[in-house]
Amino acid sequence: MRMYDLIVKKRNGENLSKEEIRFMIQGYTEGSIPDYQMSAMMMAIYFQGMNEEETLELTLAMEHSGEVLDLSPIKGIKVDKHSTGGVGDKTSLALTPMVAACGIPVAKMSGRGLGHTGGTIDKLESFPGFSTELTPDQFIENVNRIGIAIMGQTADLAPADKKLYALRDVTATVDNMSLIASSIMSKKLAAGADAIVLDVKTGSGAFMKREEDAYALAKEMVRIGNGAGKKTIAVISDMDQPLGYAVGNALEVKEALATLRGEGPADFLELCLTLGAQMLIAGGKAKEETEAREQLQHVIEDGSALKKLAEFVEAQGGDPAAVYHEALLPKASMIEECRAEQEGYIGHIACDEVGICSLILGGGRETKESTIDLAVGIVLLKKTGDYVKAGEALAVLHANDKEKCNAAKTRLLKAYHITQEKPVSAPFIRNILQ
Ligand code: URA
Repeated sequence: MRMYDLIVKKRNGENLSKEEIRFMIQGYTEGSIPDYQMSAMMMAIYFQGMNEEETLELTLAMEHSGEVLDLSPIKGIKVDKHSTGGVGDKTSLALTPMVAACGIPVAKMSGRGLGHTGGTIDKLESFPGFSTELTPDQFIENVNRIGIAIMGQTADLAPADKKLYALRDVTATVDNMSLIASSIMSKKLAAGADAIVLDVKTGSGAFMKREEDAYALAKEMVRIGNGAGKKTIAVISDMDQPLGYAVGNALEVKEALATLRGEGPADFLELCLTLGAQMLIAGGKAKEETEAREQLQHVIEDGSALKKLAEFVEAQGGDPAAVYHEALLPKASMIEECRAEQEGYIGHIACDEVGICSLILGGGRETKESTIDLAVGIVLLKKTGDYVKAGEALAVLHANDKEKCNAAKTRLLKAYHITQEKPVSAPFIRNILQ
């Protein structure tokens, strides 16, 4: 088989067979197929597309390009959760202890943040001493003992995707539904869970800005997951404004803790209950949504979800006291209010801009090598649909540097669009596909 012939085939709009896709992915991972040929193939796929069978085969070939985690030593049905990313997306921090407290084993691989979206591992490192550097044996032992463990993504997890994603990034071939769906799902499948719940975000702070694109991606990923033999469910949720009120690592941890105490923002709680209910149903802990939501509410009310988080933090070297005493979490030295210049309704918040403001404050990474300041970020006081008077505070910036604070403040003010008419709100949960 020659890569040249496969490029011609795809360029001419023909379908690639399972053997051809495997040959191409294996050769690219090993290095026998060079970047320039794979670039041509990605561009051919970009223009000609892939059918459902090809997309599934591509995913499976990438999944098996490295290590596929064997979670069979963990008892019970393992349900993983994945978010396509957004601003203020602290869901895993509250959701994983909630479902673990309901008896679903959580064995999760998470990533660090890049650009204006944050990563779960960075947020968790707000707990002094916390580490995700676990050996595979420790990881499994922790899940069996306390029901939850989170580790960093291993280098050998879907290495073909790592190489391909970097190549697509510089060859203008990221934006293809088959390539995006297979990229995300190859990593999820390699992480070894029995069932997968996807949180596909849509709106100005999401990877998929348009709802129809989010829907198409969700549909494609559900089809791939189910085709690979794993029960897969996708929830499409709003990311047209930040989730909850807090944006920034330790600030988001504080909001997740408040949610586990029963004092969280309504949108964030709703997302945790929606995703959690799907996880409980997939994991065989509940038959239907009402029953699942009751269980999740119960572990908040009786404090067991918060206790589960403390156990998890302690098991991974962190100080569990910080779960109960927020003063032990990182705190910025400066607090600055961002005030409205005019009266009216908040018509829209440019969500990705809020993420960029947090990045400017030092709360995110410009490049993979950047270090981040866990203490800084933004707490919104007003969200879309709220009424504000001139001079009233829209948000509070938490900063450690006056210049960065001023730059972020100017930009944040521009992210708020004030109108005279109350905006029509879209439902927060747009759809659930399975
Ligand atoms: N995220 C991924 O992991 N892969 C893509 O292709 C796009 C977003």
